[in-house]
Amino acid sequence: TSLKPFNTFGIDAKAQSFCDVSTILALETILKAHHGTPLFVLGGGSNMLLTKDIEALVLHINLKGIEIVSETAETVVIKAMAGENWHNFVLWCLAQNYGGVENLSLIPGNIGTAPIQNIGAYGVELKDVFVSCEAIKIDNLSVKTFTKSDCNFGYRESIFKQALKGQYIITSVNLQLTKTNHNLHTDYGVIRHELECAGIVNPTIQDISKAVIAIRQSKLPDPKEIGNSGSFFKNPIITAEAFMELQNQFPDVPSYKVSDNAIKIPAGWLIEKAGFKGKRFKDYGVHQKQALVLVNYGNANGKDIFELAQLIQKTVRRLFNISIETEVNII
Ligand code: EPU
Repeated sequence: TSLKPFNTFGIDAKAQSFCDVSTILALETILKAHHGTPLFVLGGGSNMLLTKDIEALVLHINLKGIEIVSETAETVVIKAMAGENWHNFVLWCLAQNYGGVENLSLIPGNIGTAPIQNIGAYGVELKDVFVSCEAIKIDNLSVKTFTKSDCNFGYRESIFKQALKGQYIITSVNLQLTKTNHNLHTDYGVIRHELECAGIVNPTIQDISKAVIAIRQSKLPDPKEIGNSGSFFKNPIITAEAFMELQNQFPDVPSYKVSDNAIKIPAGWLIEKAGFKGKRFKDYGVHQKQALVLVNYGNANGKDIFELAQLIQKTVRRLFNISIETEVNII
């Protein structure tokens, strides 16, 4: 089976075998039957770069459903199954006027993979609305509920990328949203600007979602048109001392303060400064409007894109003495 339709980078890697799983019972049955054999768990395929064929059974997690678990006059807890598309879920919440995920509009991927990298954008991260998730342990089929503190969320990080990597399959996620008194996050300059341009003074959650969608569409390529996995690298965090040095050399360097001795630098700026923005090599390259995004123009192979990523990392290290880590999982 070709995995091309199942990864947003559009890489034509092959799966040794492939199975679509749409019920918990089917998932358990397959895990039992394949105990001890190599498995590869696939969600929305939006945060991976396939550099080779997958010599394993690929399990496509296609569990669907959205339901209300509990509610008060002000808040609601929603359980969404892992195979629900993230953005469709956001649209569903907006239609019910449930607030909390509007800043996360148009992020590719599925509900079940959102906690793994603690998806985030425009001042909001999944952890801000996360209550818990349910997961099944691959080797013994035990079911565990992970609370927010169990997940060790960090910037594009969680326990599912660290200590428990590859051990669990997330089957559903519970999120707490607001029904009234929405807590709006319009502190990001680009969002404020977008709302001002639209002449909106008192934005609703729907207005914020529209602003986010407009911003993302203006600089992030649509994977249906150009293969990509969003930000390919994480924004590096450097010490105040290293930042002073960098600023001496490059007075225009943008930055966000994380804490007194931790400054985040947009990797997109470093990559643009290194001359890679908009560069195209054969069928792949660096996106024209956002240097943090690597793209597949058609039939690139994952190895070529990985080599480009390594070249970018090396060049950024040489020019700025900063290491940038990949955000995307390299398979
Ligand atoms: N910049 C450049 N050149 C570029 C791109 C960016 O100079 O080609 C500089 C500009 O100064 C710009 C700043 O970088 O103002 C920030 O750029 P942007 O607002 O596009 O955000 P980002 O830091 O590049 C992060 C997330 C995105 C998220 C946006 C908005 C990471 C790795 N990426 O990008 O998340 O949508 O902020 O909050 O943290 C993703 O994770 O896949 C993703 C798209």
